Amino acid sequence: MSFHPTTQRLVLRAPTMTDMPDYVRILGDYEVAKNLRMVAHPFTETLFREALAHIDRERQDGNARYFAVTRAMDGALIGMCGLDRTVSRNWEFGYWFGRQYWGQGYATEAARPVLRFAFEDLEAEQLSAGWFDDNPASGAVLHKLGFTVTGTTRVKSLARGAEVLSNRVLLTSGEYMRKKAA
Ligand SMILES: CC(C)(COP(=O)(O)OP(=O)(O)OC[C@H]1O[C@@H](n2cnc3c(N)ncnc32)[C@H](O)[C@@H]1OP(=O)(O)O)[C@@H](O)C(=O)NCCC(=O)NCCS
Repeated sequence: MSFHPTTQRLVLRAPTMTDMPDYVRILGDYEVAKNLRMVAHPFTETLFREALAHIDRERQDGNARYFAVTRAMDGALIGMCGLDRTVSRNWEFGYWFGRQYWGQGYATEAARPVLRFAFEDLEAEQLSAGWFDDNPASGAVLHKLGFTVTGTTRVKSLARGAEVLSNRVLLTSGEYMRKKAA
């Protein structure tokens, strides 16, 4: 097992019912939800319960692993980071963070142990991800992590109720291991 649930500033753990207030508050922010595909706006407690049920069920079935990202210094839930292969056969990597936590390197810091878990414990051959064309901060995070662009597609954003141009990116196990060894 290579997964280390702690980084310099963060602790990653399974999400629980007690996360509901922070989770609903963060995803209830349209500026967060509009950058995600599957998050409706407004985001409600009922949607949180459904999300948690999905997370638990798919973890048991081996098709998803989501981590609540908390701050070591105060235990605050600041976001989520996860892997999901329920939509396609490939592992899709994704994350979101509360607006007040942006721009402090948290997304990149939280992603690193999740990538390590994906490639070294789950033995994923590749991870895919996507970022909306008007969300360059996410593109920057994925670039820093070693993902490269494979193309573009139009996808529906539930919160926007509209299609958005999405950049598709990929990180292969070989590339991850090569960068890790460098
Ligand atoms: C995208 C998101 C996860 C970034 O989180 P974060 O903790 O601020 O990310 P980090 O601080 O680790 O890195 C952000 C990078 O984006 C860069 N960035 C920020 N705004 C940018 C912009 N407008 N254009 C280009 N780069 C930008 C930062 O400079 C930083 O890169 P650097 O370290 O090389 O300077 C966060 O904004 C978020 O949760 N957004 C809403 C949900 C979302 O977009 N999820 C991802 C869906 S693909």
